[in-house]
Amino acid sequence: MKTQLTIATQIDAGRLDLKFAYLGKEGAQRHVAHSQSAGYQAVSSHAALSHLAADLNLSDLRGKTVDLVDFGSGSGVVSSQVLRVLQGAGLNIARAVLVDVSPDLLTLAKKHVAHAHPGISIDTHVTDLEVGHDPDLPALLARNDADARLHLLLGGMLGNVHDPARVCRAVAGYCEPADRFIVNVSSADEARKDPTQLRDYNSENFLAGVMSPLRDLEIPPERIRGETVYEDDERAYVTRVRFTDTVICSAGGREWLFPKGKTVEVFRSRRFASGELARFLTAEGWEVIWDQTVDAKSWACAKLTRPA
Ligand SMILES: C[S@@+](CC[C@H](N)C(=O)[O-])C[C@H]1O[C@@H](n2cnc3c(N)ncnc32)[C@H](O)[C@@H]1O
Repeated sequence: MKTQLTIATQIDAGRLDLKFAYLGKEGAQRHVAHSQSAGYQAVSSHAALSHLAADLNLSDLRGKTVDLVDFGSGSGVVSSQVLRVLQGAGLNIARAVLVDVSPDLLTLAKKHVAHAHPGISIDTHVTDLEVGHDPDLPALLARNDADARLHLLLGGMLGNVHDPARVCRAVAGYCEPADRFIVNVSSADEARKDPTQLRDYNSENFLAGVMSPLRDLEIPPERIRGETVYEDDERAYVTRVRFTDTVICSAGGREWLFPKGKTVEVFRSRRFASGELARFLTAEGWEVIWDQTVDAKSWACAKLTRPA
């Protein structure tokens, strides 16, 4: 109910964030299938992490017990891959804490990680990083005997949210100064190579319902037209749908009327040029100890310069 009310508020604001695409059993299953597809694996380029591990300045953690906290863990498919890479780099991962806005995804992610890594203890926690500080999460994170903590925010999620600085501050609120924070975002350099392909991916794939926040509203596709516009000096591309006809549908326990001509934002992807992610994190109070762009993603590893 809380989620539905949020959807209602968002429609009022002329926006429907991508996070709504992941909610519910069906949304979760779609994301799991999507994250296992060759296309997702190719764009996410998490394989890159295996040859980046040596550069990540993690050598001081070798032989120590480490808790891995995966924010926006999604299906857990990538969490498992990252766990394997970190273990290969000599880290002894004691526990994985999977954090996501979708309870259904967390149930599937826990099963997936437990199956792939039977020796690791797993906790899950539902939270919305865009809403701000969650007072229950620090207690869960503090429940550990590990020597160190490593936080992840992967899959370009930072670039999908309306206010990345807010999410970054929320993550900082759960980190101790010595903790590491590894984040990746989509690379603007890669996007510029083929903007047409991105526009098509956006309009066809998202609006047709593969990962669409509009899905639960069951809006007939022929009544909307997707338009992708580039903003912020072409670093962000934003898909908005315009209603080509009047539509009445249900959300938040009430009927909604979208008049012909109404526009709603349904997808946002902010891409970061080489070095830009590092500058963004620095401005948010992180000390960036490593950053690199590999294929479709820009990566950074950071520590807090002061307590959040
Ligand atoms: C693109 S997927 C990335 C999943 C995984 N990290 C990966 O790399 O494949 C984005 C994930 O972030 C979650 N998410 C989106 N907005 C969120 C928010 N505001 N708070 C917490 N999780 C959120 C979604 O539910 C989804 O699981």
